[in-house]
Amino acid sequence: MGLITLVKELWKAFFFVCSVQFCRMALLWSLSILFSYYQLFKASLSQWLVFKPVILERCPFFSQKLVSYPRCSAFTSNFTPVCVVTGATSGLGLATAYELSKEGYVVAIVGRSQQLLSETVRKIKDWNEDAHLKAFQVDLSSIESIVEFKISLRQWLLDSHLHYSIQILINNAGILATSPRVTAEGYDQMIGTNFIGAFALTKLLLPLLESSPVSSKIVNVTSFTHRAVIDVQVDEGTVSGKRFLRSVEYPYAHIYEYSKLCLILFSNELHRQLCLMGKSNHIFVNLADPGVVQTNLMREVPAILSWLAFFVFKRLRMLQSPECGADSIIDAALAPPGTSGAYFFGGKGRTINPSGLSRNAKLARELWESTSSDSLKSNLN
Ligand SMILES: NC(=O)c1ccc[n+]([C@@H]2O[C@H](COP(=O)([O-])OP(=O)(O)OC[C@H]3O[C@@H](n4cnc5c(N)ncnc54)[C@H](OP(=O)(O)O)[C@@H]3O)[C@@H](O)[C@H]2O)c1
Repeated sequence: MGLITLVKELWKAFFFVCSVQFCRMALLWSLSILFSYYQLFKASLSQWLVFKPVILERCPFFSQKLVSYPRCSAFTSNFTPVCVVTGATSGLGLATAYELSKEGYVVAIVGRSQQLLSETVRKIKDWNEDAHLKAFQVDLSSIESIVEFKISLRQWLLDSHLHYSIQILINNAGILATSPRVTAEGYDQMIGTNFIGAFALTKLLLPLLESSPVSSKIVNVTSFTHRAVIDVQVDEGTVSGKRFLRSVEYPYAHIYEYSKLCLILFSNELHRQLCLMGKSNHIFVNLADPGVVQTNLMREVPAILSWLAFFVFKRLRMLQSPECGADSIIDAALAPPGTSGAYFFGGKGRTINPSGLSRNAKLARELWESTSSDSLKSNLN
């Protein structure tokens, strides 16, 4: 790196550090991840104390139970399961697609760049020559592109020897955008990709999940950062991100947290609606929180700062590789049938509780209503 480039980088990093959003990220996100590990620690300790009932009785602090689920596959002798992984060209999505290909799934890998998709297919084939993959170029921040994907996916299933259904949908694609951008439909791009895209895709692929001969699963990849949101609005203007776009300084950290909170609320409401429709014993919805993972997610943050963040989290033994981070996603995807509404965190099938706000059923219903607004509905029907 030349001296001028270095000075420019440092200058950019200096301005970035001086922003409210950076302070929010540095402080609230660190507290959020610490709180998630604290929950895991407390639950593990109480499990150990099960053999010491006297302590448990005297100390209700340790009464939280650690719930963990074993992994199980969807195989039957004459049936090949299919899964869809969005954002599979990098980081956690790539690791998840590879892992599921090893489990014997036919993996539909979804990404926005044709070149990255071809490279991803090559990479996974190098690691696992038996992998059965199909690449789809989709921009998940565009409803039009998602609708086109539904059509091509259906056609591909019809043309193949596979059953006309899918068994797992993993909504993993996500971005951390540090400057405002608007999608073709007028949404904030970060909310459009992280939440509205997942919402629309899930709604459009529900019939394929429903027609699976074995139970099917939806996994929404969320983040510990949702804990930083303590007050939330779910009206149409906020959910579309239009309200944020009017701010003087683009509140990127807050929007990222908000989009991840919306994913949790959406998952809970979807689970409730499936129960009402009598489909909750066939389609299961779970959440996966990978923790802090070294991926390309921070690509818009000055390189020196993302390097520093990774350095600190590595020292704290909280930084994970994409392969380890993907454990919670695979745990959620391969959880035993019947597991629904669980928040997977920390690998080994372990689950913890997301924030209280994210479990607010009234808020979840209101969010569903706002997201199913007329403009989106007309695109999805
Ligand atoms: N890394 C972490 O510490 C962490 C922690 C908690 C949660 N998460 C969540 O984990 C998920 C995966 O992130 P990652 O860390 O693996 O980041 P990443 O390496 O940047 O991967 C993100 C993936 O999403 C794809 N993507 C982005 N926008 C898209 C769009 N409009 N249409 C289609 N695909 C799009 C990217 O494609 P391109 O390669 O073309 O950009 C890439 O394949 C995200 O939802 C993130 O919020 C990450």
